[in-house]
Amino acid sequence: MSTTDSLWINGEIVPLSEARVSIEDRGFQFADGVYEVIRIYNGKLFALDAHLRRLENSAAGIQLPLPVNAASLKSEISKFVSRAAIPDGMIYLQLTRGVAPRNHAFPDCKPTLLFYARTLPPLPDQPAAEGVKLLSVPDERWKRCWIKSIALLPNVLAKNQALAAGADEAVFVENDVVTECSASNLFAVIDGRLFTHPVGPKVLPGITRALLFELAPSLAISAIEQPFGESEAIAADELFITSTTREISWVAQWNDRPIGQKQCGPITKKLYAALRDRVRSQTA
Ligand code: PDD
Repeated sequence: MSTTDSLWINGEIVPLSEARVSIEDRGFQFADGVYEVIRIYNGKLFALDAHLRRLENSAAGIQLPLPVNAASLKSEISKFVSRAAIPDGMIYLQLTRGVAPRNHAFPDCKPTLLFYARTLPPLPDQPAAEGVKLLSVPDERWKRCWIKSIALLPNVLAKNQALAAGADEAVFVENDVVTECSASNLFAVIDGRLFTHPVGPKVLPGITRALLFELAPSLAISAIEQPFGESEAIAADELFITSTTREISWVAQWNDRPIGQKQCGPITKKLYAALRDRVRSQTA
């Protein structure tokens, strides 16, 4: 993975190596900001409108008006991506409250808005041969997980706890309810139906998650937003996680317990293929 050599910051495109943010930026001192990760396929942005809507909601959730309207931002990101000429990759976008002398009270200052691109390997047309391993950890995050906040320390700690235990991703469990993962949403297939925790205090409204809710009916799969427990997750026929960067990854293991038939299950495969089709048709 490599980053592009330029970055868009507050309306200007500057070389990445020359871009500077003050140490008094509230993103740096308070994690006072929100972010988005948007996929680029075939040089085109995928689901940009949905990401910008979520950005507006996240920003409103921290009482931070967008410094540019969504339509102008859309055009700026699109121009940047055409210029960057990246076939497969992502845009990382970050919006913070801006630069002001350190004080918890909201300052009267200009937000910092920046984005840049990074290349990513193309995703395969078939699910990976190997499933991912999850480690369950207590959900110690705040109760506004619907905001895509840059305050990700609990997620970072959970992810690294998972890696240290030989797993790939951490799954949060609170009062025996499975919420989501450190950087992905979680789905369970139980008796042919798809379950995932409702979005809200403990679950980010994932764009990939929402796409699966859109695609499931056309595959005659009922998708239900309903909390489930750790024992139900472990006993599920299939489990998978979703995010913008991974799309769908099937889960092979939960702590030391194998999941399902130790291979990517039939419903996960159908959803995987439908999502790939959607991506291809929208980024042809
Ligand atoms: N993370 N839940 C959490 C906590 C996440 O951080 C993410 C994505 C998701 C999936 O959302 P989406 O389908 O919109 O990518 C769910 C991004 C990719 C990241 O932090 O890098």
